[in-house]
Amino acid sequence: MSESPVNDVLVRFRNVQKSYDGESLIVKDLNLDIRKGEFLTLLGPSGSGKTTSLMMLAGFETPTSGEILLGDRSLNRVPAHRRNIGMVFQNYALFPHMTVAENLAFPLKVRKLDKTDIAERVKRALSMVQLDAFAHRYPGQMSGGQQQRVALARALVFEPQLVLMDEPLGALDKQLREHMQIEIKHLHEKLGVTVVYVTHDQSEALTMSDRVAVFHQGEIQQIDTPQALYETPRNAFVANFIGENNRLSGRLEKREGPECVVRLDNGESVRAMAVHDAAPGQPVSLSVRPERISLNATTPVNRFSGRVREFIYLGDHVRIRLEACGNAAFIVKQPIASLDPELGVGDVVTLGWNIEHARALDPVAV
Ligand SMILES: Nc1ncnc2c1ncn2[C@@H]1O[C@H](COP(=O)(O)OP(=O)(O)OP(=O)(O)O)[C@@H](O)[C@H]1O
Ligand SMILES: [Mg+2]
Repeated sequence: MSESPVNDVLVRFRNVQKSYDGESLIVKDLNLDIRKGEFLTLLGPSGSGKTTSLMMLAGFETPTSGEILLGDRSLNRVPAHRRNIGMVFQNYALFPHMTVAENLAFPLKVRKLDKTDIAERVKRALSMVQLDAFAHRYPGQMSGGQQQRVALARALVFEPQLVLMDEPLGALDKQLREHMQIEIKHLHEKLGVTVVYVTHDQSEALTMSDRVAVFHQGEIQQIDTPQALYETPRNAFVANFIGENNRLSGRLEKREGPECVVRLDNGESVRAMAVHDAAPGQPVSLSVRPERISLNATTPVNRFSGRVREFIYLGDHVRIRLEACGNAAFIVKQPIASLDPELGVGDVVTLGWNIEHARALDPVAV
């Protein structure tokens, strides 16, 4: 990946490390450029260091070593309230004794704007999140989704160039969450503000983001567009974390240019793209997406036999679980229209895939 031009970068993490106890590193060596105007999501399992990274950027935690730059200014000695960063968290944290309008006015009063200016901006912020009629309600008199919209408006009301959101939709039910995802995305597009968003929900990350940084054990495993993460995962952790994946373990037999041959644990051999630079004999993890596999395959290589174990109907497509390639939970995804109606549980089928759809990856301890 090429470095972004300097003036496109708003935030830089440079060799940032964080330890809470002086022993274990929660964030190992974070180097990350956040581009102006982008919607960047930090995605990863619980405990992988997402919130810690965000808190260091916000100024609520201090890096153990390394540096964070905003523009060309080091943030190391800038306290949180001087960073001019908007924030939204999972539990809204609105002031319960203040009305919605007072909540929104608060960050403006702190910044000593004059009264008419404050009134004008509060009005605009309310209408931005379609809560014009709620100015005089208290948070306790509103639904979770409405409160979260107020929190969003409060983070944006002082027009920060950067907004941080940590699982802002985590407490909402699925329908409201999906609605708010779209709303936040639209606000991002409209305002052109840079957003750093934290979630452990991969579909949320893929839907909303320009780029996603996949965290695991305090390290970024890969940072890419949603499509690139899905189609070209760099290691087995990313392949498993993003989307559905058939994972087959084996050892590298030989390498041939961009391709390689992998001997599976059950003795079968697979031709794949050599993503991981392993030496012959070393373990690799093969990744094949369920929708890339065809049944009754006629592919010249990578043809295997499998036994059908289960059909799972999902309306427009069906997921078929097979025993194949030494894996008892091998999944093939087929559009309903192309499914052979004669196929039943217990049948043996030929399945296959093209070389470019199998990736030989670094196994990575998960
Ligand atoms: N204030 C703290 N003191 C000590 N350890 C902490 C502190 N905050 C976080 N940790 C530890 O640091 C690790 C990373 O925590 P962090 O909150 O950054 O994870 P996360 O990726 O945001 O996870 P989640 O998805 O569960 O929110 C965890 O093991 C956590 O227990
Ligand atoms: Mg967290």
